[in-house]
Amino acid sequence: MLQEAIARDERARSWQDYVVPQNWNAFTGEDHAVWDLLFMRQLKLLGSRVISAFFDGMDLLKLSHPGVPDVEGLNMMLEPRTGWRTVAVPGLVPDHIFFAMLSERVFPVGNFIRTRDQLDYLEAPDCFHDMFGHIPMLAHHDYAEMTRHIGELGVAAIAADQGHKAARLYWHSVEFGLAKERGETKILGAGLASSFGESHFSLESEKVERLPFSVERAVNTPYKHDAFQPRYLVSETVAQTIDEVLALTPEELLAL
Ligand SMILES: [Fe+2]
Repeated sequence: MLQEAIARDERARSWQDYVVPQNWNAFTGEDHAVWDLLFMRQLKLLGSRVISAFFDGMDLLKLSHPGVPDVEGLNMMLEPRTGWRTVAVPGLVPDHIFFAMLSERVFPVGNFIRTRDQLDYLEAPDCFHDMFGHIPMLAHHDYAEMTRHIGELGVAAIAADQGHKAARLYWHSVEFGLAKERGETKILGAGLASSFGESHFSLESEKVERLPFSVERAVNTPYKHDAFQPRYLVSETVAQTIDEVLALTPEELLAL
């Protein structure tokens, strides 16, 4: 009974209830140093392994300044461009809240950063994953619109008790998708772009499957959230993922 009451209470909350102040002034010198270390290390590691739009967005958002970015400063650059803004949250938010945020062009970023002894292992996404991984692509107009659309699909799928379908679509595109650019396979997903170990693994391991992306395959392909993926979906172009996802209606998603 108590569990049901908690679940009911949880569903009654709106996404705004999960937003907290980022409290940027509370980040310590060590926190900023960890951000700088992660940032420099990851850019060097990625080389040209990520699609070019990612690097365009990185420049636009001026993430390359030293230290943890502040949410308000990010929003001043992001919002005029694509209508997206970031809000701080204390950790992972439930799926229905996450999709509701996306549907309103709001991206949640953790109000914390990992410590130096946790550089490569994270129990929950921190602000490095959320900002370094996601924000550059949210400066890309069509990609940002695709992400908003996945939010809408997610809200509809959860209302129909089929949230896993939207979660898989999100996972195999926004988080762990690969895409070809001028014939070469590159990283598209934020989970890969921000990962020290999995970025190279996804492109180079001979022990994983790389299958052509389609929304149908994405929706029907389970994923792992606590280990490297056993399979990745590869789009012919970034535009293929964007166009296919944008063309998908909630009714079509539920029928897949
Ligand atoms: Fe993410």
